[in-house]
Amino acid sequence: MVKPLRKAVLPVAGLGTRFLPATKAMPKEMLPVVDKPLIQYAVDEARAAGIEQFCMVTGRGKTALIDHFDIAFELEATLAERNKREALELLREEAMPPGSITTVRQQVPLGLGHAIWCARTFIGDDPFAILLPDDLVLSNTPCLTQLVNVYNETGGNVVAVSEVPREQTNRYGIVKIGETHGDRVEVTGLVEKPAPENAPSNLSVIGRYILLPEVVKFLSLMERGAGNEVQLTDAMAKMIGHTPFHGLKFEGKRFDCGDKIGFLEAQIAFSLARPDLGPAVRAFLKNYVNS
Ligand code: UTP
Repeated sequence: MVKPLRKAVLPVAGLGTRFLPATKAMPKEMLPVVDKPLIQYAVDEARAAGIEQFCMVTGRGKTALIDHFDIAFELEATLAERNKREALELLREEAMPPGSITTVRQQVPLGLGHAIWCARTFIGDDPFAILLPDDLVLSNTPCLTQLVNVYNETGGNVVAVSEVPREQTNRYGIVKIGETHGDRVEVTGLVEKPAPENAPSNLSVIGRYILLPEVVKFLSLMERGAGNEVQLTDAMAKMIGHTPFHGLKFEGKRFDCGDKIGFLEAQIAFSLARPDLGPAVRAFLKNYVNS
């Protein structure tokens, strides 16, 4: 029996420089796609997959992210007074159980691997998920739930992988693959941002992971990798051979909302998928593009 997955780490300490000036005084993870901030999508997806304990790795200027998950007493009182039942219900549905979110501080953004290492006490001896809130997945089954389904069968480490154009491998963590069974691949190696000619495949790891706690031991080495950052990919690569490592070609489309084009595409795709907005957005796009 595998140890059930109950913990998730949400690294949100990055600077979000690609979204300046929007991110000068507001965390990137608070940017909304349609009407919901990126962080809320990540938390909703994690809760749907059975996660009960959350650790946000934050930094300076990120308090809005924590406040977002608090109860807004004054707002709720005003909504109740004005009989705005729908809005009130929405807030209450999304309320987090008391004590389910903890935060740790990454004082200097030294890289994703360093951010995860900052959560080491929270991780303890348990398997844990990582969700990068700037990766959004539009799918029938939430992406983390798809990973949990594999994890519950196989145990070990499970990461979501997706094909990228060969010429873009230098933007991603790329996997080397062994045996393939349908949508599941055995991960036999991992390289962060390889040049296309050195890339072992065109399958990239996206921001959804289930990892065993052993990864912390490798992160503790604090080795600098691509971009002189402490890379999660490098620590994961060191686990290969010691613990099973699987990749899942998940069902759904991933949007890189840390990038302007990806963010704009997500706005369009997520609004088209909404029954209340889809028809109007589709009509607008048709007219606007043809005019
Ligand atoms: P990104 O690579 O998108 O970096 O981080 P960034 O700083 O957020 O954005 P840009 O590139 O400057 O525009 C991927 C994820 O890892 C987190 C980020 O918050 C984001 O969720 N991260 C990154 C950290 O928490 N700490 C770090 O040191 C680096």
